[in-house]
Amino acid sequence: MRDDLERILFHETTILARLDELAEQITRDHLGKELSVVVILHGGMVLMADLLRRVHMPLWIETLTASSYHGGTASKGVVDLGPDGLPDVKGRHVLILDDILDTGLTLATVKKQLIESGGAEGVRTCVLLRKKKERAVRIGADYVGFEIGDEFVVGYGLDFAGRYRNLPFIGVLKDEVIRGELPGKGVE
Ligand code: IMP
Ligand code: MG
Repeated sequence: MRDDLERILFHETTILARLDELAEQITRDHLGKELSVVVILHGGMVLMADLLRRVHMPLWIETLTASSYHGGTASKGVVDLGPDGLPDVKGRHVLILDDILDTGLTLATVKKQLIESGGAEGVRTCVLLRKKKERAVRIGADYVGFEIGDEFVVGYGLDFAGRYRNLPFIGVLKDEVIRGELPGKGVE
C-alpha cells in the first residue's frame, strides 16, 4: 500500500502528538459538561479511537454514517446519512468527529440535523485535517489537527474506494492509482 503513495504528509508519531494537544483542549473546553461525541463513519473511526482515549472526562460515543463520495475522489454534493438515523442528543453538548473538512457539506449537514432535528444543546466540530480551499458552504471546525493543500489523501481512516483506511500515517495518493492505471488498483 505504501507504494501507492506519492509522499507521506504526517507520520503516526506526528499525528499522535497533535492528538495529545487537541484532547487537552477538548477536555478543558468541556469541563463539567455532559459530552456526547458523534463520530462520522467510516472516516472518523481511527481518529475516534486515538483521540478519545486521550480525553480524560466522562463522555458518550455515538456514530453516524455519512457519505458524499461514492467511490471517487470528489464530493458528489449530496450527503447520504445512514439508515440508523440520528443518535439521541437531545439537550446534550455534542462534539462531531470527522476525518477531514473538504467541501464542508458533510459537517454542515450533520451539524444542522443534530441541532434542528436532534435538539442538541450545542454542537462543536473536530476534524483531523482541513483542506485549504474556497468553500461554497460556510463552515469552520472548532478543532483542527492539521491544515493541508487541496489534494487527495488517504490513511488513518481516510479511504480511496474503501481502501487504505488502515495505514497508520497520512499520505497523498499517486495520480496513477486514482486513474486506475496500476493493475488491480483504483475504482472499478
Ligand atoms: P465534505 O463533505 O466535502 O467536507 O467531505 C467530507 C468527506 O469526504 C470526509 O468525511 C471524507 O470521508 C471524504 N474526503 C474528503 N477529502 C478526502 C480525501 O482527500 N481523501 C479521502 N476522503 C476524503
Ligand atoms: Mg470517506
